Amino acid sequence: MPRSGSASDPTRPDSDPDPGKVLMDALDAIMTTRAIRRFTTVPVSDEDIWTCLRAAQQAPSGGNRQVTRYLVVTDPDLRREIGEYYRKSYDTYTGSRVDTSTDATWTRIKASARHLADHLADVPVLVFFLMPADRPGNAVDIGPLTASVYPAVQNFCLAARTLGLGTTLTTVIRAHHAEVLELLGVPDGYEVAAMVPLGHPTGSFGVAKRRDVADVTRWNQWS
Ligand SMILES: Cc1cc2nc3c(=O)[nH]c(=O)nc-3n(C[C@H](O)[C@H](O)[C@H](O)COP(=O)(O)O)c2cc1C
Repeated sequence: MPRSGSASDPTRPDSDPDPGKVLMDALDAIMTTRAIRRFTTVPVSDEDIWTCLRAAQQAPSGGNRQVTRYLVVTDPDLRREIGEYYRKSYDTYTGSRVDTSTDATWTRIKASARHLADHLADVPVLVFFLMPADRPGNAVDIGPLTASVYPAVQNFCLAARTLGLGTTLTTVIRAHHAEVLELLGVPDGYEVAAMVPLGHPTGSFGVAKRRDVADVTRWNQWS
């Protein structure tokens, strides 16, 4: 994907001398995009942030209503305050769960999620994906409004991956979302669908372990 595009031909970058350049094979990017929660403090360039946002904005939405609004936070003071709300939210979340699992993968996820909760303020970029709080009624159920936001979130994360940047889709901040929206000056009528930290990972990307897709797929008939 080009790192920038012109209005007349969005497939052609404005300044890239090699318009055919492929940053990364799309399937490789998909297969190695996973939750990254440990970041260096190296800043992310505005150009890279805009590339990820453009990718997000190309995502599908119900009726092409394009309901997602993006709020990019790089200011260190704001990140610190958001970090405090995020940690409180995460503590509330973990405190509300009965968790007796000793599964190794889950233990790793918890350690990594705890790390993010304790260090969110150090992540160079926090991107809020906002959606309208009021849901217009539809005669036909076309799905929840979040269905029109999460494709944009995933596009954002995939674009970041192609640039070597890490992300995690997070939602736990919703426990304090009224305070966060006020802090960021968001007018009434919006809510947080997701908050995505963006930065350079301290570790490397890899293929996450998942259930075998064949075990969760049926063909033509359920049984
Ligand atoms: C709807 C949703 C909400 C999530 N919320 C959080 C969150 O608040 N904090 C967090 O650290 N991770 C959050 N995650 C990330 C998941 O924990 C992560 O995708 C899962 O553990 C798989 O991680 P992996 O891709 O590295 O295997 C969320 C993911 C989704 C899809």
